[in-house]
Amino acid sequence: MDYVKNAWYVAGWASEFDDNLRALTILEQNVVMFRASTGKVVAMEDRCPHRLLPLSLGKRVGDAIQCGYHGMTFDCQGKCIRVPGQDNLPASADIAAYLVHEKHDITWIWMGDPQKADPDDIFDMPQFTDPAWDAHLGQALHLKSNYLNVAENLVDPAHVSFVHPTTLGNTASENVPVHAATDGEVIKAWRWIRDAEPIGFFKAFGNFSGNVDRWHYYNLHLPSIAVIDFGSAATEDNLAEDERDKGVRLYALHFLTPVNDQYTIDRWMHLRNTAINDQAVSQNLDELFKTAFAEDVEILEAVQREENRLQTRKPVRIAIDKGPLVYRKRINDLIEKEKAENTVV
Ligand code: FES
Ligand SMILES: [Fe+2]
Repeated sequence: MDYVKNAWYVAGWASEFDDNLRALTILEQNVVMFRASTGKVVAMEDRCPHRLLPLSLGKRVGDAIQCGYHGMTFDCQGKCIRVPGQDNLPASADIAAYLVHEKHDITWIWMGDPQKADPDDIFDMPQFTDPAWDAHLGQALHLKSNYLNVAENLVDPAHVSFVHPTTLGNTASENVPVHAATDGEVIKAWRWIRDAEPIGFFKAFGNFSGNVDRWHYYNLHLPSIAVIDFGSAATEDNLAEDERDKGVRLYALHFLTPVNDQYTIDRWMHLRNTAINDQAVSQNLDELFKTAFAEDVEILEAVQREENRLQTRKPVRIAIDKGPLVYRKRINDLIEKEKAENTVV
């Protein structure tokens, strides 16, 4: 499968990387990563150029990796620095190294053309460092699903009424139309549900006694980061669209890392404008998110299984599909653009 390569993908939370060699697959490439003595995380192709043993099965020698089969050794730029039994070190023995950058306790990797990599392009939001907001790293969902299907689910506010009836949705929202638009490179889909019972999330967490106005704004950043802005405010507050900070507001972030065309890792976290530094609230929210996201996993894996079977008709498209359709088109455009750039060179 083709992927957008010139982008920063999440390899893991920074806390996941230590001295040990860690094997990952990202965009169908096997990568070995570890935290070097400098404190920086490094990443290399996880395959010895001799007999192809994964280097993650070898061992660290200082900041180099020694292959576990015949001891060829590679520094963390991928350069071969030792071939046991001979003095010459052929340049053809060097392996690929990947750029890695850490920001806000998240480890990002660049799988594409290193000339095009700029750490300033790494996803960011001012709320990460704003003391009025709490940023809490969650966990990783492993989905047996293509990342495009997962991303589509994350620009799709309509599914919450049916997939998440106890946490993120309820029947009050079933027929509320979804708006969709693009804002530069970001694809947006959103809706407000006015004057309705709070959803499970805000019953557990928002302390609302009566009806609320609730919003869901799904913002999809290419190639595969979703920012879901959702919250509630008492209906009598009559919140305007741009006053969402006055309500109880949450951002659920999903960083999708395509492993292969049938497998995606979705690392999720949240930012909230209430209960700052309250660990108990973070844990409670994690539990609510875990319940909700397990529901998405079930749906998405079932969809993938059907997609893998013989197709007899084209899927029907309905009004709520605007965001997903724009997303698929833009991903294809990006992949074509990268291919065209590579053929020019
Ligand atoms: S397979 Fe790595 S040195 Fe032989
Ligand atoms: Fe969902």
